[in-house]
Amino acid sequence: MMIPAKKIKNGELVVFPTETVYGIGADASNDEAAKKIYKAKMRPSNNPLIVHVADIESAKEIAVFNNNAELLAEKFWPGPLTFVLPIKAGAKLAPSVTAGLSTVAVRMPSHKIALQLIRNSGCNIAAPSANISGYISPTSTSHVINVFGEDVYLIEGDNTEYGLESTIVDLSSDEVKVLRYGFITPDSIAQTLGLEVRCHQMEEYMSSSDAKIAAYKEEYKAPGMMYKHYSPRASMRLNATYLLAGEKGIGFGQIDFGGFNLSKTGSLEEAAKNLYDMMRSLDSEQDTQKIAVAPIPNTGIGLAINDRLKRASV
Ligand code: TXA
Ligand code: MG
Repeated sequence: MMIPAKKIKNGELVVFPTETVYGIGADASNDEAAKKIYKAKMRPSNNPLIVHVADIESAKEIAVFNNNAELLAEKFWPGPLTFVLPIKAGAKLAPSVTAGLSTVAVRMPSHKIALQLIRNSGCNIAAPSANISGYISPTSTSHVINVFGEDVYLIEGDNTEYGLESTIVDLSSDEVKVLRYGFITPDSIAQTLGLEVRCHQMEEYMSSSDAKIAAYKEEYKAPGMMYKHYSPRASMRLNATYLLAGEKGIGFGQIDFGGFNLSKTGSLEEAAKNLYDMMRSLDSEQDTQKIAVAPIPNTGIGLAINDRLKRASV
């Protein structure tokens, strides 16, 4: 397989697989290259990118590590956990990558191709999910083919191992906050740190007043969490136990609508892995107006699945 490290060095974009979702990456120290990502995705310029590193040392060159970061890196890196930390003075980071914040999001992926791409290009790689802003994140090569045009090189790969974006944990202050749910659960973070962690409850904010949204912005400073997100074209109805006229269903466990089922055995890991692909499949059928999804237990990885479903249904 060809690893187009030169393209990254030359300031071009590369789509590549990770263990969570496919990313669209550029040299994190090259502002012009990073700006191409925003343009390709039609992403608002105030929504910062995650910087992907090949090792902890590289992370420490751009972010100020603390004890919590050390403990979590030891336990979960490489893997699907992103840290938000203060930017280190003198860090080689393009301004558009961090969108003017004083913190940076950093993650060491475990996927072999992602790691090889970072290592071979000799720079950190800023990469959001490789979807048009607001649409469902890609979990297979077929989801990214023909999305960004011929100028963007695509490294083809397997279907992603976890199927959901990384957990994001804000470690920039003493109060540890989970900003985005993912495969690494708040409980496992709390256990590793021996601390309580706060979880961002998006339902408090999504349908609420401007004042609450302002409070949210102040508190979380993660603009990407503000928007309707992960959304199919069709509308979504959650916690469905039967189908209404005209609906297409996505089942889970015993609640089976006869078509797609996230996991017949009721496995949340399997459900996470299947979720985006099933949403995309139904959404791509022209006659799909409404997608009904069976209830998913709101524990462990189910927190992340329900979070994505809620955002998709706003
Ligand atoms: O699994 C993943 O994290 C994938 C793969 C490609 O690594 N990437 C990904 O990136 O999901 P993206 O851009 O789709 O989501 C990154 C989120 C956005 O919501 C953004 O607002 C938030 O991270 N973020 C980035 N920098 C931040 C910061 N300094 N503070 C708070 N949130 C930040
Ligand atoms: Mg994204």
